[in-house]
Amino acid sequence: MSQIQNITWHQAAVSKEDRRTQNAHHSFVIWLTGLSGSGKSTLANEVAKELFRRQVKNYVLDGDNIRHGLNNDLGFSDEDRKENIRRIGEVSKLFVDSGTVVLTAFISPFKEDRDQARQILGSDEFLEIFVKCPLEECENRDPKGLYQKARKGEIKAFTGIDSPYEEPESPEFTVDTKSSTIEECTAEVISFLESKNLIK
Ligand code: PPS
Repeated sequence: MSQIQNITWHQAAVSKEDRRTQNAHHSFVIWLTGLSGSGKSTLANEVAKELFRRQVKNYVLDGDNIRHGLNNDLGFSDEDRKENIRRIGEVSKLFVDSGTVVLTAFISPFKEDRDQARQILGSDEFLEIFVKCPLEECENRDPKGLYQKARKGEIKAFTGIDSPYEEPESPEFTVDTKSSTIEECTAEVISFLESKNLIK
């Protein structure tokens, strides 16, 4: 519940536009959504490397990492996932204000929560990218052994097993990590950003 009575907003002396001008690039969020094991974190880091090479200031916010710190009070109930995504939306907004390109790698399984993040950022600063990979493939990969645990009932409310994943209906872009390599998916994302004149 919001508690913003008696709080005054201070205008920043250095604006987002000033920072973008100095950086010589736009700032926005690349919001990766997909099942556990679909390749979100790997893709986010590969795209980040290429942006860094092009001198585009960027930062990766990753589910597992953020849950070690900022969101270590949150679990995997629907409510906690909602709060997880809301906070990431707000943190991303701060990064965008700082002139940074943000790559978020969260399952973000619920459409409503992703839409809320889009609303927090504003449509022109939010690009939803669906990291598409069938559940069977993610389960075969099972890089952390979590699907196996979930199947045995050792983890409850695991996305795709006993907690839903709502696929994006109209993402700005989709990569298919089953049929394409991570290098190909990275190149596709970079080309997409170029085609939108978001990076050079
Ligand atoms: S969410 O749904 O967006 O709030 O999840 P996220 O913050 O991205 O965290 C997902 C990572 O947490 C691990 N993990 C689980 N995932 C899904 N369901 C359950 N119950 C769960 N428990 C732990 C898992 O390693 C996820 O990492 P990724 O990188 O997605 O595989």
